[in-house]
Amino acid sequence: ASTLGASAAEKGRYFGTAVAANHLGESAYANTLNTEFNSVTPENEMKWDAIERTRGSFSYGSADQIVNHAQSRGMKVRGHTLVWHSQLPSWVGSLATADLRSAMNNHITQVMTHWKGKIHSWDVVNEAFQDGSSGARRSSPFQDKLGNGFIEEAFRTARAADPAAKLCYNDYNTDGVNAKSNAVYTMVRDFKARGVPIDCVGFQSHFNSASPVPSDYQANLQRFADLGVDVQITELDIEGSGTAQANSYGNVVRACLAVSRCTGITVWGVTDKYSWRASGTPLLFDGNYAKKPAYTAVLTALGGS
Ligand code: G3I
Repeated sequence: ASTLGASAAEKGRYFGTAVAANHLGESAYANTLNTEFNSVTPENEMKWDAIERTRGSFSYGSADQIVNHAQSRGMKVRGHTLVWHSQLPSWVGSLATADLRSAMNNHITQVMTHWKGKIHSWDVVNEAFQDGSSGARRSSPFQDKLGNGFIEEAFRTARAADPAAKLCYNDYNTDGVNAKSNAVYTMVRDFKARGVPIDCVGFQSHFNSASPVPSDYQANLQRFADLGVDVQITELDIEGSGTAQANSYGNVVRACLAVSRCTGITVWGVTDKYSWRASGTPLLFDGNYAKKPAYTAVLTALGGS
């Protein structure tokens, strides 16, 4: 096939991108999105501070714009994200334990119910582990007040809210075998052993020269898949340009295709123009929406041309 989405579909995968609602009105942005991708992730619009800035008052407008855009064109939607320490309104951090527990469960239930049946995968919990060698949990209102059990509780609440959605744990710097990915691995293995509902693990895959695509990337995806969960590449971007960047992108796509439970890839933006890496060029389309060598490498790796 001649597009990323259609080529991925021929391999039984989706190929998605992060989308910002405020760019949907730009025709080059929308045309590239609509032509090339068959899954979207709202880049910021489903985060807690966007949806429930004030306790109990839910605003779905800009996320609905993205969901409607996707649904009317047959694209899948990834939900990102329900429980995260960042982009969290300050009122959440001020709650005492019992209140925080009910606010977390209410947020999950309300948000998932709003889009029930429309989201193929949800990042239920995002970035709950520390970087470095400790394998410890990251400090957050949830961790500090509810303890280690908050992740399990969030997943159980999520399953009840939308039983058809795949429930994912999502993190970064877990792309190769290391202390942080080992800690996530141990958690997922424990969840599977105890019947805690988890369906997938998201590997954000933000790469740069200091943190390149690890040589054991495929092996790491495979060891998680072997626990009985799907794996998804959820926020892929790779700093650089030209052939080196293209080769790295090709390696990531080939690793996913080599793991049967790697069900899809999402890049973290349509164009370099709007990447969260302000001065970087980590995506597949340049600032003028021209296809980069990285685009061709991905299309070729997917079997397209
Ligand atoms: O929307 C507000 C606007 O109202 C305000 O006036 C303006 C002033 O700063 O900020 C705007 O919010 C910005 C938001 O993006 C929407 O554009 C925030 O400042 C900015 O910090 C925020 O950045 C996002 C970042 O997450 C925040 O943590 C990036 O766009 C987004 O790409 C990035 O995505 C994360 C994933 O969710 C999780 N994994 C890492 C990834 C990259 O950091």
